[in-house]
Amino acid sequence: MKRRNFLTLFAAPSLLSNSPQTGARGQLTVIHRGRPRAFCGPLAGSGTISLPAVKKAGGISIEAALAKRRSIRSYTGGALTLAEVGQLLWAAQGVTSTDGKRTAPSAMHRYPLEIAVVAQDVDGLANGAYRYLPAKHSLEQLTASLPETRLLKGATPQAQVHSAPAVFVIAAVYERMGQGARNRTWTDYEAGLASENLLLEAVGLGLGAVVTGGVDATRVREAVKLNGNEEVIVVIPVGHPAG
Ligand SMILES: Cc1cc2nc3c(=O)[nH]c(=O)nc-3n(C[C@H](O)[C@H](O)[C@H](O)COP(=O)(O)O)c2cc1C
Repeated sequence: MKRRNFLTLFAAPSLLSNSPQTGARGQLTVIHRGRPRAFCGPLAGSGTISLPAVKKAGGISIEAALAKRRSIRSYTGGALTLAEVGQLLWAAQGVTSTDGKRTAPSAMHRYPLEIAVVAQDVDGLANGAYRYLPAKHSLEQLTASLPETRLLKGATPQAQVHSAPAVFVIAAVYERMGQGARNRTWTDYEAGLASENLLLEAVGLGLGAVVTGGVDATRVREAVKLNGNEEVIVVIPVGHPAG
């Protein structure tokens, strides 16, 4: 086994428990595709990776983002940064008020959505799946993967899911909204609101994305180790647009 793979497989749990292997900022540098990269982002507390502060100004106008948004399925192969991943997660479900309200509205402020990200080529983040923790603007690792493997390989044949540097998983715990079809509709509606936020943020960052509903939802859930009552609704691969 290559040394890089060995590190990827065995370093993650110890990093997440703040072991002495972590550097001063909770980082270990490995070489991936010839580039030095932090194995893990800064650790915010036990088992969480804090995301860089979000930008709340700059970028392009809402109107320009709306006019420019298009489903993008081909990517250059360039990595995303941890800041870009954090910005996209914040756009989808970030907390924007002291009483916990978020970027997207929620019926009866029940917040049934759970967002995960599959990192396939993100500078500062080891490959694997992570749950977004809105209240801490942090990530919690769900599972690790080797740089060459694709966690979602068995979940869809659609190439954009495997070629994107990051894939966002939009899931929900439907029970949080309450029982019945109407509550389920509202939850799905919220998934759409959060998804559009993420899509527009991608445009603002000069990135491309596509809502991909054609996935085996159960396989996605199992692959990313969402082990609660989450149900996967769609995935959204994001990358640098090719062409
Ligand atoms: C719920 C939903 C599911 C979708 N699923 C897929 C998909 O599985 N694969 C895909 O390539 N595009 C998918 N799309 C993207 C649509 O094909 C795309 O939005 C449509 O062609 C319009 O193009 P535009 O997004 O560039 O405006 C999906 C869009 C939505 C809203």
